[in-house]
Amino acid sequence: AAASVGAAPVATAAANAPVISKEVTVLFGSQTGKSQGLAKKVTKKLEEIGFQVSLSSMSDFKPNNLKKIQNLLVLVSTHGEGDPPDNAISFYEFINSKRAPQLDDLRFSVLSLGDTSYEFFCQTGKDFDKRLEELGGKRISPRVDCDVDFDEPAAEWINSVLSSLSEASTVAVTAIGAGAAVTPGAESEYSRTNPFQAEVLENLNLNGRGSDRETRHLEISLEGSNLQYEPGDCIGIYPENHPRLVDELIEAMGWKSDELVTINKNGEQRALREALLRNYEITVLTKPLLEQVAKLTSNTGLQELTAAGHEQDLKTYLVGRDLLDLVQDYSLKGTPAAEFAAILRKMPARLYSIASSFKAFPDEVHVTVRTVRYEAQGRERYGVCSVQLAERIKAGETLPVYIQNNPNFKLPENPETPIIMIGPGTGVAPFRAFLGEREEIGAEGKSWLFYGDQHFSTDFLYQIEWQKWLKNGVLTRMDVAFSRDTDQKVYVQHRMLEKSAELYKWLQEGACVYVCGDEKKMAHDVHATLATIIEQEGSFSPEEAAEYLTRMQQQKRYQRDVY
Ligand code: 2AM
Repeated sequence: AAASVGAAPVATAAANAPVISKEVTVLFGSQTGKSQGLAKKVTKKLEEIGFQVSLSSMSDFKPNNLKKIQNLLVLVSTHGEGDPPDNAISFYEFINSKRAPQLDDLRFSVLSLGDTSYEFFCQTGKDFDKRLEELGGKRISPRVDCDVDFDEPAAEWINSVLSSLSEASTVAVTAIGAGAAVTPGAESEYSRTNPFQAEVLENLNLNGRGSDRETRHLEISLEGSNLQYEPGDCIGIYPENHPRLVDELIEAMGWKSDELVTINKNGEQRALREALLRNYEITVLTKPLLEQVAKLTSNTGLQELTAAGHEQDLKTYLVGRDLLDLVQDYSLKGTPAAEFAAILRKMPARLYSIASSFKAFPDEVHVTVRTVRYEAQGRERYGVCSVQLAERIKAGETLPVYIQNNPNFKLPENPETPIIMIGPGTGVAPFRAFLGEREEIGAEGKSWLFYGDQHFSTDFLYQIEWQKWLKNGVLTRMDVAFSRDTDQKVYVQHRMLEKSAELYKWLQEGACVYVCGDEKKMAHDVHATLATIIEQEGSFSPEEAAEYLTRMQQQKRYQRDVY
């Protein structure tokens, strides 16, 4: 029976409302660990007010148990082109299949994480929300879709879920403050919302002269921060916009560099140029931004572009354009800076897979960052963070950073478990961390690295280190694919296929497979190749091979860090 906790029972609980169960199931589907962190947070809050909570990843949840659940909270991010994250795929497919049961007794609520610069913003969360309703579920509180800056809307969703659940079950509720930061597992005072000013110790170009590419290796000091990480974790870096772009924008708008703008809800003010450098995103256009600019400026052209029926034009316009294009194309000069700034998105941090082992380099974090430069609409464009690191950050300077744990890309607990690592280009970064860690702890498990890039002579990142590890046995095998040294392109998956018998043998011995790097092409093709290898070598049907991979995913033996 429900004894109320703390204050008197909430008086607003309607007399005729059914008293609901005090058991709540919290399921998360998370690529980088954000949804998981929020799921832990809501779990803790619910437990504090007397609920019994069962928290798990969607991949660990047995869908047959769905029928027994009364209260379900779903926290899920969206990946790529509106796809569910890896650990949500099987549950997502189940719930959208004919096997999904009728759920008339279910009460649920969905929190979805996403990014408004993607067309299929928060699609996975929307899909869950819609499907759970179709199956008969009733909403505990409405779905909330979060943009990159998720703290406040997520805290509001948590509050709303807590009060609805506790009203219905007559348990008192303590609201949590909006904007409360969520930092899973962090013991340091530094977090995404309170980054550490970290000194850069080293900043090198890893590519040889004559390469088409530039890849920076940065060594960053965490000394004094108490920040720690595990292999597979990411570092978040808050970059600054390119000063030239900022100056051109100020000029195009007829603004003044030193006029003051408010940069947050606390009313903190900063000179416009400084704010445009550090606080606002100006290189990405999103649909909600254009809608707000249209409203703010009453610009007829923009109103037309954002009106119903012009979705395709809008979509085309958003690609490869930035704020400078927008203000030039629609002659927005004269709109007051303060009003304009108020509708810009906050500058989001860039996440990079950490390339070092904390045990091997205490108090340091290494990153491998490819410089992004390209031309679009007749103008040179720069990756905000990568070009800053390449051109404007010298050893001795500092960067605002934090650690983002990634529970979905972790070495096997057993150091004897074989690992297969597939990471062309900068995708190799976390494997430098994996091998550094395995060397440091004296792990005995076999390891196999598939690596590739354009040219052997200029693009073989960390070549000397792999060779050292091959020699001392930390790395058992390495296969490389340099795509532009031969007439026919060779990619990592071609090397995998050449070694398919051996690779399958490793899988049968329980090897864990890790894929890091480009999602759309590489990770997709590597996945298909793994399926082919399993099919051929295990004499399986395509369906059975797919199940084999799904099982590996569920057992956390197939993990991906793809972007
Ligand atoms: P390319 O640029 O010559 O096409 C790292 O970026 C390496 O990944 C490069 O050698 C690149 O080759 C290669 N790459 C490009 N597309 C790929 C794909 N679909 N699968 C695997 N590797 C790919």
